Amino acid sequence: MITAAYQPPTKIITADGITTVLQLTDLHLFEDAQQSSQAASCEQHFEAVLAQALAEEVRCDLILVTGDLVHEVKPSTYERIYRRLERTGIPFACIAGNHDVTDELIPATALDSETAFEQRTLVARSLDSRLLEQHVIETTNWQLLLMDSSLPGQVAGKISADSLAWLQAQLSRCSKPALLALHHHILPMQSAWIDAHIAKNAASLWELLASFPQLKVIVHGHTHQQQLERYQGVTIYTTPATSYQFLPGSDEFAFDNQALPGYRWIQLAPDSQFNSWVVRLQQH
Ligand SMILES: [Fe+2]
Ligand SMILES: [Fe+2]
Repeated sequence: MITAAYQPPTKIITADGITTVLQLTDLHLFEDAQQSSQAASCEQHFEAVLAQALAEEVRCDLILVTGDLVHEVKPSTYERIYRRLERTGIPFACIAGNHDVTDELIPATALDSETAFEQRTLVARSLDSRLLEQHVIETTNWQLLLMDSSLPGQVAGKISADSLAWLQAQLSRCSKPALLALHHHILPMQSAWIDAHIAKNAASLWELLASFPQLKVIVHGHTHQQQLERYQGVTIYTTPATSYQFLPGSDEFAFDNQALPGYRWIQLAPDSQFNSWVVRLQQH
């Protein structure tokens, strides 16, 4: 099936000057949603999260998907996700996570998910053409900067020299308050196993940002949990996955089976004002 070429939004203008962004992250969808209970639950939670968010009394101006759209890299899964997002009628933009460029092959002999985690073979995959590597969305009062931090064949991330130069050029050119979105975390989460998979050269990013005080907000995924940090005058939000959650503060790999899937709203207002909150999936 031939679909029209995807055109990501580059401008969002609103009459009240406020831009409300719905962040969805870490969907981890499978090609066949019926292939396992994990696949079925990721699919079901994504649909439920999207339906719940869009039923809220909040005007959604942009859906921002911050990586790990798929659990295994298959073109048909992206087709399905993009078609679903198109059906919302809301502009959307997606960046890659590690799972979008790396397949984690688990030996058939692995006993459970924890042994599987240690025994994975990481295989590099190419980036889906609709995932944005460096992209600017200008809004009435803000600039949204979307940046790829994924590294094919790796779980950890890295911000390329090219992306750092792009970020520097964009922030030099435009003094509007800025939000930066990427997949990987850029400050330790106090969780040793997750922190092994941080954006490795985060220090270079922080060094660059020290010269650009208009960068107010960073939002990312990858951690499958909710957290807020402030560092160098920047507010950093990480957001629950739409799929499954990881246990905060755990040095060993662990799921958080008590925490529900969720999503984040980010409101960007005039005069560098912003507000953000997380909503969890309601159980029925
Ligand atoms: Fe993820
Ligand atoms: Fe990730």
